Amino acid sequence: MTLTILTGSANPGLAEAVAQKLGLTLAGLTLERFPDGELHVEIEESVRGKDVYLIQPTSPPVDEHLIELLFLADACRRAGATHITAVVPYFGYARQDRRATGREPVAARLIADVIEVSGLQRLVAIDVHSAALEGFFRIPLEHLSAVPVLVEALRPYASEKSVVVSPDLGAVKLAHRYASMLNLPVAIVHKMRISGEEVRVQRIVGEVEGMSPIIVDDMISTGGTVEAAAKALLAAGCLPRITVSATHALLVGPAMERLDALPMQHLITTDSVSLPEGLTLPTEVVSLAPILARAVKSLHSGATLADLVVYQ
Ligand code: R5P
Repeated sequence: MTLTILTGSANPGLAEAVAQKLGLTLAGLTLERFPDGELHVEIEESVRGKDVYLIQPTSPPVDEHLIELLFLADACRRAGATHITAVVPYFGYARQDRRATGREPVAARLIADVIEVSGLQRLVAIDVHSAALEGFFRIPLEHLSAVPVLVEALRPYASEKSVVVSPDLGAVKLAHRYASMLNLPVAIVHKMRISGEEVRVQRIVGEVEGMSPIIVDDMISTGGTVEAAAKALLAAGCLPRITVSATHALLVGPAMERLDALPMQHLITTDSVSLPEGLTLPTEVVSLAPILARAVKSLHSGATLADLVVYQ
């Protein structure tokens, strides 16, 4: 069966890099908006009988990119594609996996249902906010991780004076994964979220005084979590040499000013989403193209993904 790779507008650079690694070119398509804002998509070549991979992170603007993904999936299904897999390097809405205060949707669950209805038969995602997301889907979710490649990029900045810091309770397991690969201790910041943009630190568990923190998280959105953690660590006597590693650098709203104001040595991240222009931070971007290309190749040929998939 022929392998076809398609992408929407969310991160064409990454999709092209994946296609190139597989010796392919992206299938042509038209993405246009009617004057009222309605999206219209059209795939320009036959996908009948093909094994199709739609590479599209649901990065900001999340809803636009999600709708593109759903429309492309529906177009492929109606055009007779045999298998349709969504490769969603960053999966938005994963944080809304429960009702935190009541009278709210469980958005992650609803999005999972909509994805299934669109005709997608399998999902590949990287470092989703919570591994429990898998349970929201009846279709298989292949959960891959960028942590091993991020750790290799981090290694030159780590020393025996470093400590891996989880900036909230949700990232504790992630911090332990980094720490065991780097052979470093872990500290945990107890954060309380006040609003979408504002967080407050309650306390720090673990030794940070005189140490260089490596703050790790699945994502940086507005930078509030990293900023609050960094300020608390500095107040607790850590060295003003902070390194941050996060798989998904959304960097929306005040994120860049917040991070710019910190004594940050390096931001290590991936190209799961297109990075904003004008990024002045010392940033190292590790490409996910090799991991995704290997995953697509394995799925297409029916080979194991055991060395790529992460279970938490
Ligand atoms: C939440 O628990 C996530 O893991 C991140 O810590 C959070 O989403 C980052 O958002 P922000 O950068 O806006 O604080």
